Amino acid sequence: MTGRSQKDYIGFLFVLEGIDGSGKTSACEEILLRLQNDGYDVIHLREPTNESPWGKEMRERSPKGELTPEEELELFIRDREWHVVNRIRPALEEGKIVLLDRYFFATGAYQSTVMDLHWSEILRRNREEISAPEPDIVFILDVPAEIGLERATGRTGQANLQFEKLDRLVKVRQAYLEIAENDTAAIRVIDARKSIQNVVEEVYDFITDFLIMSE
Ligand code: TMP
Repeated sequence: MTGRSQKDYIGFLFVLEGIDGSGKTSACEEILLRLQNDGYDVIHLREPTNESPWGKEMRERSPKGELTPEEELELFIRDREWHVVNRIRPALEEGKIVLLDRYFFATGAYQSTVMDLHWSEILRRNREEISAPEPDIVFILDVPAEIGLERATGRTGQANLQFEKLDRLVKVRQAYLEIAENDTAAIRVIDARKSIQNVVEEVYDFITDFLIMSE
């Protein structure tokens, strides 16, 4: 974990990432409660949003298969731009802790697997075109694709559909691990095969140690 450039806000930005079924949403909710109990001023946000026109369009049209990968990439980036301007930066400028369930690392990992575009180019666009703030720490909750798929969908899907989803998640996981290895952000890979309680404990400890060291 190396860390990037100087940050340009007074709050703290912690991001949870991982493939579908990695447990990040449940972990976020639990960590939020713990930090609130400790008296921290913390908010929980997630992407894609349910608020901007672009996030709404994504949630409405993507499941129906109406969008090309190029259109999805643009919608994720426009939605994120709205989120940064209207939710993330204002909270960080008030000194809050922002716990963010997915961010531009998800766009790098997911969209690069369906387009002829390297994840580093997708991350660059987020950093340069929409000035997405750099997180203090990104936690990648890492599970094998088989476990993620099983947790996310159960074993009920049609075999060929499941195979396509599995193949996609294998690639997305690989892209996340490449990002962790090669990107300049401060990234921690967490073994999320463990119970959710263990994952929560580990991430919470990293966050609170970081906050105490930053006092
Ligand atoms: P969720 O599982 O966190 O609710 O995310 C919804 C889906 O959106 C998930 O399959 C991952 C996908 N996604 C992308 O493909 N690119 C992105 O930039 C984001 C934020 C999510």
